[in-house]
Amino acid sequence: MAKRNFSFAILLFFFFFLFFFLFSFSLATNVSYDHRSLIIDGQRKLLLSASIHYPRSVPGMWPGLIKTAKEGGIDVIETYVFWNGHELSPGNYYFGGRYNLVKFVKIVQQAGMHLILRIGPFVAAEWNFGGVPVWLHYVPGTVFRTDNEPFKHHMQNFTTYIVNMMKREKFFASQGGPIILAQIENEYGDIERIYGDGGKPYAMWAAKMAVAQDIGVPWIMCQQYDAPDPVINTCNSFYCDQFTPNSPNKPKFWTENWPGWFKTFGSRDPHRPPEDVAFAVARFFQKGGSLNNYYMYHGGTNFGRTSGGPFITTSYDYDAPIDEYGIARLPKWGHLKQLHEAIKLCEHPMLHGEPTLLSLGSLQEADVYTDSSGGCAAFISNMDEENEKTVYFQNVSYHLPPWSVSILPDCKNVAFNTAKVGHQTSIMEMVPEYLQASMTSPDKESKAPKWGVYVEKAGIWGEADFVKNGFVDHINTTKDTTDYLWYTTSFYVNENEEILSNRNQATLVISSKGHALHAFVNQKLQGSASGNGLNSTFDFESPILLKAGKNEISLLSMTVGLQNAGPFYEWVGAGLTSVKVKGLKNGTVDLSSNAWTYKIGLEGEHLKIYQANGLNSVKWQSTSEPPKNQPLTWYKAVVDPPSGDEPVGLDMIEMGKGLAWLNGEEIGRYWPRRSSLHEECPSECNYRGKFMPNKCSTGCGEPTQRWYHVPRSWFKPSGNILVIFEEKGGDPTKIKFSRRRTTSVCAHVSEDYPSFDLESWPKYTASTKKNIATLHLKCPEGTLISTIKFASFGTPTGKCGSYSKGDCHDPKSIAMVEKVCLNKKGCDIALSKDNFNMGLCPGLMKKLDVEAVCS
Ligand SMILES: *[C@@H]1O[C@H](CO)[C@@H](O)[C@H](O)[C@H]1NC(C)=O
Ligand SMILES: *[C@@H]1O[C@H](CO)[C@@H](O)[C@H](O)[C@H]1NC(C)=O
Ligand SMILES: *[C@@H]1O[C@H](CO)[C@@H](O)[C@H](O)[C@H]1NC(C)=O
Ligand SMILES: *[C@@H]1O[C@H](CO)[C@@H](O)[C@H](O)[C@H]1NC(C)=O
Ligand SMILES: *[C@@H]1O[C@H](CO)[C@@H](O)[C@H](O)[C@H]1NC(C)=O
Repeated sequence: MAKRNFSFAILLFFFFFLFFFLFSFSLATNVSYDHRSLIIDGQRKLLLSASIHYPRSVPGMWPGLIKTAKEGGIDVIETYVFWNGHELSPGNYYFGGRYNLVKFVKIVQQAGMHLILRIGPFVAAEWNFGGVPVWLHYVPGTVFRTDNEPFKHHMQNFTTYIVNMMKREKFFASQGGPIILAQIENEYGDIERIYGDGGKPYAMWAAKMAVAQDIGVPWIMCQQYDAPDPVINTCNSFYCDQFTPNSPNKPKFWTENWPGWFKTFGSRDPHRPPEDVAFAVARFFQKGGSLNNYYMYHGGTNFGRTSGGPFITTSYDYDAPIDEYGIARLPKWGHLKQLHEAIKLCEHPMLHGEPTLLSLGSLQEADVYTDSSGGCAAFISNMDEENEKTVYFQNVSYHLPPWSVSILPDCKNVAFNTAKVGHQTSIMEMVPEYLQASMTSPDKESKAPKWGVYVEKAGIWGEADFVKNGFVDHINTTKDTTDYLWYTTSFYVNENEEILSNRNQATLVISSKGHALHAFVNQKLQGSASGNGLNSTFDFESPILLKAGKNEISLLSMTVGLQNAGPFYEWVGAGLTSVKVKGLKNGTVDLSSNAWTYKIGLEGEHLKIYQANGLNSVKWQSTSEPPKNQPLTWYKAVVDPPSGDEPVGLDMIEMGKGLAWLNGEEIGRYWPRRSSLHEECPSECNYRGKFMPNKCSTGCGEPTQRWYHVPRSWFKPSGNILVIFEEKGGDPTKIKFSRRRTTSVCAHVSEDYPSFDLESWPKYTASTKKNIATLHLKCPEGTLISTIKFASFGTPTGKCGSYSKGDCHDPKSIAMVEKVCLNKKGCDIALSKDNFNMGLCPGLMKKLDVEAVCS
């Protein structure tokens, strides 16, 4: 009996083992590459990838973001790994909350998508200190990103830690997981020479160290022209059609295609037109590219103090296809979705055919891919920035708008032209809602909250940290545990000084390496100054009121995100370099080498009064009329969540500068600093020609960032604690929550541009009715078309939100569109005789524009 049991157990064990072996074996994916593309399980692949950085949103948003990416025609999610968010001190790791990398990868895997893991671990990324922990700068002998032991040791240690974590979860494709590529270092080739003798050996060491990790999938190094085999060097730029990898055996990959750009406090709001993003992508695939990654596809938010800098905004929206709040940005998202569908229709001939290049004019060319099974795909481009052009390709004429690419998945029919935006547009708004007090009583009436107020003293609170003659470097002193460092000193004024009777005669003159400053004399704020995204140094000059005897000077120096890139960036300092008082009898008094007393951080930060367990460590003054324009003030209110379920932004336009928290979660730095009025914003954005970040900016003279994302998942049904630290003065009663929602959707179709459903491409090309142009309109999930604000078939003008009728207008338009669309989730309207007066104004190219309200 015992013996039978034993063999049964062995048998069971054997089957279990066999099952396990087969299971893991059958799931393993072989990822390799050749000159053309990545090869997954023997198949060459055209891949569309999207950067979504896990700590720039919250776990509750991850499934939705990844789903929206997948719906947009994305196959791969790409993320950096954020070292300084994970290794808080040497060997002390954190992977909770927004930093739960394993959870993020699992969500990507569950969505059936691939993942590119850009470990770095230097990442730049407009992220604080480029992602490298600040503590590493203070490990003796360390110089970042060059050939020295401490840096290499810690870089290898962290890289290995992450690789092992991924291996443990079986996340590499070689283990059956979603990771198909991994990256080491980041854009190092651009600056390798500047690191002198240490540069090249470091880059080669990094490649070798990575390859030795034995992850079973290829490694990439972006902007690394000398990446050694088998590491693939890849391109980062606005355009990568001209890029060639450093070996004929490597495929052409684009790791960073920038569909927008980031913002710095005090600058304008950059936008990259969807026509140009699509043009760049189509050109890249036309010229033999096989993997395109949008950096960013969802930019998200630099919560807390994670933004790099100096001066990068808390919003990292990036004008990306998914906006900061997680909503598809239209038409950009939709235009790219259609582009992706068109490119995917070309996949087989592109990856298995030989390309032929045909010149069709001085700035026009066709790249034609034909495969052995008779498949043919062509990309026809017009590089002319000014002029449209009609070209002949295989005896058929094609009209090409300026700066555009037409994609012909069968070498005959145009599935997509990059300059013709057929997808609907939407207008978003931030619907304001004043803060509502949270009350537990059932008969509660909405009303403004009571505020708790705590005002900090200017200068040293508690014990001074240290006293020193002259200035210390700001970053070396705070080690980035806080943005704030107090520099304080005092000096004496004789009773017979004339300036005592005339304030304008004494002037405080300060120079700083950055980033920002509030100057207090005798506890009174005298003024503020700061650098900007281009130059962090600044000077401050302000008349001051002095008194006879001892005068206290308290200077609050601030960092606004640490440097995140550039050669030797970790050595760029911050803080005061000179302080003088002008206008005294003695002439100018230089206080720079005085004895300065230092205090790191704020009292409220030290006591963590923004968190539940620190909240009661100061005595808040309770009031329904909180002080306005009061510097160094903490405000606290207990509030209800805003109504509805739309994403929420905190409107800080009436505040000065500071930090905000909800329920102890860090919303981040706020600063409604305005861009200079002297900068010009174009009234129209011309998509044609090479894009530069300042080309299509908006928001001239407006705050760079007015709203600050507060994820819905941070709210409780009631009793939410909002804490604000205001540095220089604002009006907290004007703080509002704003709900982000779609105001209206607009769609457009023109007789000459049959927009159609690419999912039914073969049916379409076979159909004789293929030239019937059709307008498609769809409301956001959960809403219906409630009003048709505008509809005109004819020659309407203007754009979404401001259409007007042209001379040619079919009067039945509105009634027609209302009949088909009202109270529907979406609708399709063909430009046909049944629907419109097609004979109207003969000889003119007619179109249909519709604006609808969804609610
Ligand atoms: C993986 O695929 C490549 C190319 O298809 C092939 O050369 C290689 O032998 C495969 N490796 C394994 C372990 O099957
Ligand atoms: C990384 O360093 C820590 C000590 O700081 C050590 O305990 C750990 O074993 C190292 N890990 C690796 C993978 O080298
Ligand atoms: C184009 O037309 C020329 C002359 O009319 C003809 O010889 C040629 O075969 C045609 N090419 C194609 C691809 O139809
Ligand atoms: C910071 O301190 C280090 C020594 O720890 C010094 O080498 C460096 O120059 C200092 N940086 C600045 C900007 O003063
Ligand atoms: C002005 O100069 C006199 C004499 O040199 C000195 O005693 C006094 O401290 C100076 N005042 C200030 C404000 O430095």
